Amino acid sequence: MSEGSPGSRMTYGNYLQLEELLKLQSGPEGHNPAPSNHEMHFIVTHQAFELWFKQINRELEDALDLMNVEEVDEKQIPVIVSHLERCSEIFRLLAAQWKVMETLAPQDFLAFRDRLGTSSGFESWQLRTLEMLLGLESEQRIGGMDPMVHNRKLHSEGKLSDEVMAEMVRIDNLPSLNEVLGKWLERTPVNGVSGDLGVLTDFVNGHLKSMEEHGESVISHMVKIGHGTEETVRPRIQSGIEGARSFLLPEGQVSASRAGLLFIESYRELPLLSWPRRLIDTVVDLEESMILFRSHHARMVERMIGRRMGTGGSSGVDYLDMTLKYRVFTDLWAVRTMLVKREALPNPKNPEFYGYAAEN
Ligand code: HEM
Repeated sequence: MSEGSPGSRMTYGNYLQLEELLKLQSGPEGHNPAPSNHEMHFIVTHQAFELWFKQINRELEDALDLMNVEEVDEKQIPVIVSHLERCSEIFRLLAAQWKVMETLAPQDFLAFRDRLGTSSGFESWQLRTLEMLLGLESEQRIGGMDPMVHNRKLHSEGKLSDEVMAEMVRIDNLPSLNEVLGKWLERTPVNGVSGDLGVLTDFVNGHLKSMEEHGESVISHMVKIGHGTEETVRPRIQSGIEGARSFLLPEGQVSASRAGLLFIESYRELPLLSWPRRLIDTVVDLEESMILFRSHHARMVERMIGRRMGTGGSSGVDYLDMTLKYRVFTDLWAVRTMLVKREALPNPKNPEFYGYAAEN
């Protein structure tokens, strides 16, 4: 066919491989009778989620590639942020998408639920690779579940193709976003200096001192307004400071990544820190949007099957509610507890390094 002839024209259907795609909603081979309207809705909804998981995995891996280097090119930080922002938006869309699933009445679901057998979203390998790319560790999962063990078993039983298994192994061998983020934070210049443990320790000790001083004013304020007595308030404030100390100085040694993180969060006004700060915010936003996605799924499931066991054999809603406790970026969340209002902090040293001359 000559180029430009009507026969070679790219069409909508060609470009999207639409005919192939639209043939895939009738259930597995031999599914008899053909899916009802309700069952097709169930299949379409799952497939739509899986397509979005595919896109999220791609965005995460692109962001990871850009961050998995000795020195992250500053010009790439906005690009990394845009990959992660897209993931958050997809999760927000997916969190809302459960509403469509809720148009399925529980009785109409029960009518075909047996056809699912033991299949379950629990076996979504794309959700598992997504969690692995973010950095959710087996020890953090309920029952210490290792998705690789589960999927290797499926693979050995011929239930998962070689390609999928190879893809899972490849992703399992990549560093996670949480790991590369930690390395990047370690290199953050603190008070204008990178990688100097003495400077980091001084900064952290100075921060703890500000927390103590600020803590004293909080104690007197709380007592004054009648929110407890000195005896009840002081231990709470002190335990917050001790928590900060063991977070920033684990085993008495400064943690470079946590010091870097604290610096970025404390001195948000420094122009040079504005993109690093955006990146941190975007990661927190991504994790928050994922938690909301999980939470909306759990509520939809509760509405659909109450307290029944899941088809995957878990306790159902109780299991899903436990997954809401998952946090990958634990340091990013934890640092929030120890921030001190800006006026109570000393001005950063070497402000000119950050493109800002603070008034000292
Ligand atoms: C009637 C609709 C649905 C019900 C009743 C339902 C129920 C459940 C239950 C009970 C679990 C826990 C595991 C188990 O024991 O099976 C689960 C897990 C899961 N479901 Fe659903 N689900 C529904 C729709 C969906 C849809 C449309 C998706 C989209 C892909 C989905 C994705 C998942 C995923 C990814 C998990 C694993 C969660 C994790 O382990 O963190 N579910 N579902």
